[in-house]
Amino acid sequence: MLVEFILKASTARTDSSFTILDPSSSGRMDLVSRCILATFKQINGFRRDVNFYTILEGPSNPPICIKFIGRELERIPSDELETTFLIKELLEKKQSLPGVYLIKESFEELTTRLAKKKKIFLLNEKGIEFSNIFPMADKDLVFVLGDHIGLNEDKKRFLANLGAIKLRIGPHSYLTSHCIIFIQEEIDFYSTRRTCPSNKVEGTEKGEEEGRMRGGSVNMEKGSQLR
Ligand SMILES: C[S@@+](CC[C@H](N)C(=O)[O-])C[C@H]1O[C@@H](n2cnc3c(N)ncnc32)[C@H](O)[C@@H]1O
Repeated sequence: MLVEFILKASTARTDSSFTILDPSSSGRMDLVSRCILATFKQINGFRRDVNFYTILEGPSNPPICIKFIGRELERIPSDELETTFLIKELLEKKQSLPGVYLIKESFEELTTRLAKKKKIFLLNEKGIEFSNIFPMADKDLVFVLGDHIGLNEDKKRFLANLGAIKLRIGPHSYLTSHCIIFIQEEIDFYSTRRTCPSNKVEGTEKGEEEGRMRGGSVNMEKGSQLR
């Protein structure tokens, strides 16, 4: 199973004329950097079974897609500032690094390409409960997320026409990077249970553990309607 995230960064600059210490000058590249770290960073090293795409749509040369391929990465920056610095350098030199590619591809082109082979989900506060994905969680999954502004109605309609399903992760509006961490954690938990069904969380009963999957078996039945 491969998990992929797409972040539509509607204001993030597509040239290098910004200061890494000033998020307002970069069109919120800090948000993009946080999402990259949320996607890959772990306590000891980084995740390889995941890809991250961001479509930068700010001035002066939109759109630009930056693609991070987990299996090809040699390292992940240690913090937000280093990540923003890496993006600035990429935009300046227009040279790819191992596992990091800069491509001229729009949100529509990227999602259309991925939707031909994979199931696309839009993270949206008005979607169905996240646990509905578990019947499909052995397949390659693509999650689309908005930035601080979110997706406009045109983009939501575009994704709906590609067959994307809206998923919500909770009753509030969360930070995009928070949503990525939530998704990774839920899929990790699902994968651990699938590969080792007798796996028990210390100090909990099986029922409690299932409850942890926010809806457990009830929603897995509901999810079959999505196939
Ligand atoms: C800070 S929110 C953006 C809020 C923005 N006003 C909007 O309407 O999308 C950033 C992104 O995180 C995702 N998100 C935030 N809360 C969510 C929730 N409860 N369920 C699903 N996705 C959520 C959405 O993709 C959203 O575009």
